[in-house]
Amino acid sequence: MKPETRKTFSEVAALEERFQLATYKKMPIVAERGEGVWLYASNGEKYLDLYGGHAVAGTGHSHPHVVAAIREQAGKLLFYSNLVYSDARARASEHLVSVAPAELTKAFFCNSGTEANENAMRLARLTTGRENVITFSGGFHGRTADAISATFLGKYRELGKPNVPGHLAAEFGDIESVRALADEKVAAIMLEPIQSMAGVRTAPTEFFRELRTLCNERGIVLIYDEVQTGVGRTGSWFFAGSEASGGVVPDVITLAKALGSGIPVGACLVNERISAGIKENDLGTTFGGGMVAMAAVNATLEVIENDGLLANVRTVEAHLRRRIREVPQVAAVYGRGFLLGLEFQENAAPVHQSLLERKIITGTSSDPKVLRLLPPLCLAASEVDLFVAKLKEALS
Ligand SMILES: Cc1ncc(COP(=O)(O)O)c(C=O)c1O
Repeated sequence: MKPETRKTFSEVAALEERFQLATYKKMPIVAERGEGVWLYASNGEKYLDLYGGHAVAGTGHSHPHVVAAIREQAGKLLFYSNLVYSDARARASEHLVSVAPAELTKAFFCNSGTEANENAMRLARLTTGRENVITFSGGFHGRTADAISATFLGKYRELGKPNVPGHLAAEFGDIESVRALADEKVAAIMLEPIQSMAGVRTAPTEFFRELRTLCNERGIVLIYDEVQTGVGRTGSWFFAGSEASGGVVPDVITLAKALGSGIPVGACLVNERISAGIKENDLGTTFGGGMVAMAAVNATLEVIENDGLLANVRTVEAHLRRRIREVPQVAAVYGRGFLLGLEFQENAAPVHQSLLERKIITGTSSDPKVLRLLPPLCLAASEVDLFVAKLKEALS
């Protein structure tokens, strides 16, 4: 066998840039391997990853239990579609429903967050026979036609022109703005219960209760886009049903990102009102529910349970909030669990860059003053201490 020659950073970057559309501003890292909260570059440098590859690495990078489950399934059968039954799919759906609020009794699997949202909106239209969808300014729901049309954040909706008709925008946290739009043509109200990309914006618990009541009164389907908040990120399995949600459970929640620990998978979890009206062929997908993805889902849920990650998120969040008070330049901390926004007094882009130079990866947001932290759920208090030390250095 020919010995492999290691390419330098510049060689890899030049190749990608030559053969890939330049749709992302990339960090100067060739990612080679990962372990827990650490990302290792091909030059041997290691980075504390507080961004988790867009909130995907919930169980940490390449958790051995998840890797073993994927390997085992891949060795047996890579894929067969939903035309056959599968033990991996049976176990993943049972497991996912068992950790969801009791009202959500069935799952539909797809491949990404945007697809989960497209399917959720379709389910709402099929259930109600209505067409319009209310979403919120500042919400992000994906980049396919219907989801981008539901996204009233910055430039995104414009990019999706011509938009799907029937999308209306209300103000996040303002129930009167929703009431004014929620007429008999509205099929669904869909929201990110914590608006991540907008700068980690939260709403008062009362808002969720009022939304639930409004939907009940007017026959509207309530959808939580939990693509980011789901699968343990806020310190409970889902935002739905949690204390912060006032115990409110929507009719549908959508999931993706951390659900497969890096294997692409999305899902809609629905209640009986929705599932009762759905027939064969109403929804479909070639890859959704494939065996390797299902093995990854099941193993992901097992890791969250076996490693006590929900409790870890709550404990380490409290530690981080305490320690961050030592940094006066952080004006506010938004969010919940490991979906946190640090607001700086000034533009946060130089802080992001300076942290990167100190081998700490954080995320930006559409609010220039807010940096986002979306770390793996296994982040330890000692790693928070390292982050705070580096943040002080970066700001000094
Ligand atoms: C809240 C939310 N919804 C939907 C999406 C779209 O997910 P995907 O990129 O998997 O299509 C994202 C992606 O960032 C998201 O943050």
